[in-house]
Amino acid sequence: MSVTPALDLRGIEKSFGSVTVLHDVAFSAYPGEVTALVGDNGAGKTTLVKCIGGIHAFDAGEYRFEGRPVRIGSPREATRLGIEIVHQDLALCENLDIVQNLFLGRERRRGLTLDETAMEEMARSTLSGLAVRTMGSVRQRIATLSGGQRQTVAIARAVLWDSKVVILDEPAAALGIAQTQQVLEVVRRLADKGLAVVLISHNMNDVFAVSDRIAAMYLGRMVAQVRTSDVTHRQVVELITSGASGELGLRR
Ligand SMILES: Nc1ncnc2c1ncn2[C@@H]1O[C@H](COP(=O)(O)OP(=O)(O)OP(=O)(O)O)[C@@H](O)[C@H]1O
Ligand SMILES: [Mg+2]
Repeated sequence: MSVTPALDLRGIEKSFGSVTVLHDVAFSAYPGEVTALVGDNGAGKTTLVKCIGGIHAFDAGEYRFEGRPVRIGSPREATRLGIEIVHQDLALCENLDIVQNLFLGRERRRGLTLDETAMEEMARSTLSGLAVRTMGSVRQRIATLSGGQRQTVAIARAVLWDSKVVILDEPAAALGIAQTQQVLEVVRRLADKGLAVVLISHNMNDVFAVSDRIAAMYLGRMVAQVRTSDVTHRQVVELITSGASGELGLRR
């Protein structure tokens, strides 16, 4: 079976001034799969994701999207291809409601006015497509939502468009057990719909519960990309903490 990866990056190098943050990084993500991107604090996960999303320009390397070489110079270009990122810091507007957040900067218009009815309907159907039960009205302000509900709004905003790749930077970092469960269910459902989902997480239970593949970074290098079913928790923890585990990872 050879499926073309949705994302396929090779030899990615990125420095901030004199500090090299990504060294020769390879990374692939496949449609219909959840790829967990793991690594300790500062390993380079967010930086890699920002390179994928056109927020940072990388210094060298190849970037293929659905098998085609692409050059992504801005977040807008990434969005146009169908790559959406839910950032570590969410970036929702507290004082706006759910619908306003979902369509921020991409509002539906009808003539000169906003098409509120169409936006409300799309908001409702997207949220129900994610099987979100706990949200009240789509006109609720973000400030009145819980962490898990906010996370779901951020994910809904990413999948409202015709997205093909959705990258979630630590979606469950500050969530309780039930809310984490709900976010993981949403993550799984997106992959089951055929999207390539990339999930950054520090929680090994979450990683093993939801991912098909694991990509492990250590000090700016990609040390292993494996099928989740081929590794143990312990091996992944070793990859994260030392860059190697037995035959896997960096050569000692
Ligand atoms: N804009 C920047 N300028 C300079 N250095 C940066 C910048 N952004 C990130 N770095 C550095 O790059 C390294 C990787 O950071 P990054 O945020 O990618 O890590 P991470 O794997 O996402 O960590 P965490 O799990 O804590 O979110 C860190 O040493 C960080 O200090
Ligand atoms: Mg990060």
